[in-house]
Amino acid sequence: MIGRQGIKCHGKSFSEPPTNQYTHDQSENTLLVGDCRAILPTLRALSVQTCVTSPPYFGALRNYGIGGGIGHEARLEEYVANLVAVFHEVWRVLKDDGVLWLNLGETWRSKRMLAVPARVMLALEQDGWLLRDVINWHKIGATPEAVHDRCARDYEEVLMLTKSRRYFFDIDPIREPHRDSSLERAAYEARRTADGGVKSQNRQGRLKANTVKLNPKGRTPGAVWSIAPANFRDQHFAAMPLALAVRCIMASTRAGDVVLDPFGGSGTTILSAERTGRVARVIELDPLYLDVTIRRWEQITGIQARHGESQISFAELVAKCGTGRPAAPAPSRRTLSRSTRG
Ligand SMILES: C[S@@+](CC[C@H](N)C(=O)[O-])C[C@H]1O[C@@H](n2cnc3c(N)ncnc32)[C@H](O)[C@@H]1O
Repeated sequence: MIGRQGIKCHGKSFSEPPTNQYTHDQSENTLLVGDCRAILPTLRALSVQTCVTSPPYFGALRNYGIGGGIGHEARLEEYVANLVAVFHEVWRVLKDDGVLWLNLGETWRSKRMLAVPARVMLALEQDGWLLRDVINWHKIGATPEAVHDRCARDYEEVLMLTKSRRYFFDIDPIREPHRDSSLERAAYEARRTADGGVKSQNRQGRLKANTVKLNPKGRTPGAVWSIAPANFRDQHFAAMPLALAVRCIMASTRAGDVVLDPFGGSGTTILSAERTGRVARVIELDPLYLDVTIRRWEQITGIQARHGESQISFAELVAKCGTGRPAAPAPSRRTLSRSTRG
C-alpha cells in the first residue's frame, strides 16, 4: 500500500473475479464493486460512524450504464422496500451513536408528484430509524427544469436519521458566519450597556439593556443548505457536490472515523472523507464508476491506488487488463435531469 490511505479495489473493474473475502482494517479507504445488498452483510457490525449516500432516483430516466440497480423497479412500493432493506443492513453496520444522511430526489408520474422522499422517510421510521431533520439542499444555479405548470424543482431533501436519541453530532464545524444584522444589533446593545448595563429610564424605572451574546464560532446553521450542484456531469450525471458530503461528514464524525456510502457513484463520499481526514467504505454496482472514483482520488491525493489483494497499482492493472467496461456514451440532455420530470 502506498501512502497512509490507499484504495483497495475488489472485482470486475480489474477483470478479476470478485471476491467475497473482504477484510477492513480501520486505516484505509476501501472501494467495493457489486450490489450493496450483497456486500453490506459482509461488513463488520457497528464499524461505521456515519453513512452519507444518494441512492438512484425512483424510475429515473437516466441510465447508470448497468442494469439491475436500485431505481429501476416497476413500482414505487418495491423501490421503497428495496431502500428499507439496504438501510436495515446499514443500521447493523452503523455505530449506535451514528448518523445516516440520505439524499433523495423526487419523481413525477402522469403529472403526479410521488412524494418519494416522504414515503421513504416514513418507511424508514417504521423500520426503527429516528428522523431528526430534513435538510433542504437548495441547488444554487441548477439547470432550470422545462416545466410551465408547476415551479421548477431547485432543491432536494437530505434526510438526517439516527439509530437512537443519543448520537454524535458536532455543530461547530458547520456553523455559519453571523448575519450583519446580528452583528450590528450586538454592537448596538454593547454600546448601550456601556452605561452600567442601563438601556433607558422610563416612569417605571431603569430598563436593563439587552445582552446579545453571539457564539464566537458562528451562528447555528439553518436547515436550508445552498450549494451548487457538482460540476462533474461528463463522468457521472448524478454526482453529489463535495461541499454537501463534507458538511454531513464534519457534523457527524471525528477525525479518523469511518464513513460509509453504499451507492458510491463517482466517489464523492470517498473524496470528502479523504479531504476531512476520515476513512471511507464505498460500494458501487457499476465498475465504470469505480474507475472514475479511483481516477478522481488519485488526482486529488497524488497517491496511487492499489488493488486490495494483488497490490498492483491501478495504472498497471488498466495497462494489463483494461477497465471493466468501455466508457459509457455521453448522457443525453434528458438524462441530465436529477428529478424525473412531470
Ligand atoms: C445517485 S448515484 C450516486 C452518486 C454519488 N453520490 C456521487 O456523488 O457520485 C447512485 C449510484 O448507485 C449505484 N447503484 C445502483 N444500484 C446499486 C446497488 N444495488 N448497489 C450499489 N450501487 C448501486 C448506481 O450505479 C449509481 O452510480
